[in-house]
Amino acid sequence: MTRPIAVATWRFGLPAVEASGRAFQEGGSAMDAVEAGIRVAELDPSVDSVGYGGLPNADGVVQLDAAVMDGPTHEAGAVGALEGFRTPISIARRVMERSRHVFLVGEGARQFALREGFQEETTLTEEAKRRWEEWRTKRVAHQQPAGHDTIGLVAMDSTGNLAVGCSTSGLAFKEPGRVGDSPLIGSGLYVDNEVGGASATGVGEAILRFCLSFLVVELMRNGLSPQEACVQAIRRMVRKGRKFRKLHAAVIALDRSGRVGGYANHDRFSYAVWTPEGAQLIQVKPDPQDTDAWESDS
Ligand code: GLY
Repeated sequence: MTRPIAVATWRFGLPAVEASGRAFQEGGSAMDAVEAGIRVAELDPSVDSVGYGGLPNADGVVQLDAAVMDGPTHEAGAVGALEGFRTPISIARRVMERSRHVFLVGEGARQFALREGFQEETTLTEEAKRRWEEWRTKRVAHQQPAGHDTIGLVAMDSTGNLAVGCSTSGLAFKEPGRVGDSPLIGSGLYVDNEVGGASATGVGEAILRFCLSFLVVELMRNGLSPQEACVQAIRRMVRKGRKFRKLHAAVIALDRSGRVGGYANHDRFSYAVWTPEGAQLIQVKPDPQDTDAWESDS
């Protein structure tokens, strides 16, 4: 028997991993724990970067991205630029389980969800609409509030199986149709039962150019601890130049021994860990050389 564990990005990952823990206690698999945890953030209207409550695109339309990946089978499912559903993680899981494809986007993803029996709902909250109207009239630059961004959640169940999921509304006021790293296997998430899993959060335009989640898993495969793999992956990115210290990004990791790690190129990142002993939030303290506080332009 393996000790179950769940790890999720940001402070809003705390209630998410607690839901994962309840899923485990009810006999759920790692994939059940991933879905249960991420749904908590998706359904929380106060989380302005995931699911219901997420900020819309430049046209005022909420377009959501989500993906899941299964550690033992390498099966995966994803949706991108999906409109009209509050829990895209469940639709991504359904793509994995019921479709012959891995990634469905836009209207095709919506039609798939409807065929699968998901109910369309309003995804734009009054608060998100108010902020979009303010942005549209004043073109207020979007300030990233504390706790902003994607939920990524990696879990391992008592059989030792791993799973990972990722869900986001993407960058606030993005170009319609824009998709970031979150639903891209290898960028926003990656898992291999032989090694471990990882997920990324931050500016997709940076993360997806470095396949950060795949990189973290491959660094662990080469013998690094989850913490060291996260540090080395972020460092690979920031060493490409100052631009990649300014575009915020963070990664979390869990290996098949149950060790966890997390790192970021900024000092706002925290991640949540659940074990049967309880849940805790871990604040990441990056090396200043890996942040935009570092003045070198190398
Ligand atoms: N990491 C979320 C996004 O850039 O869409």
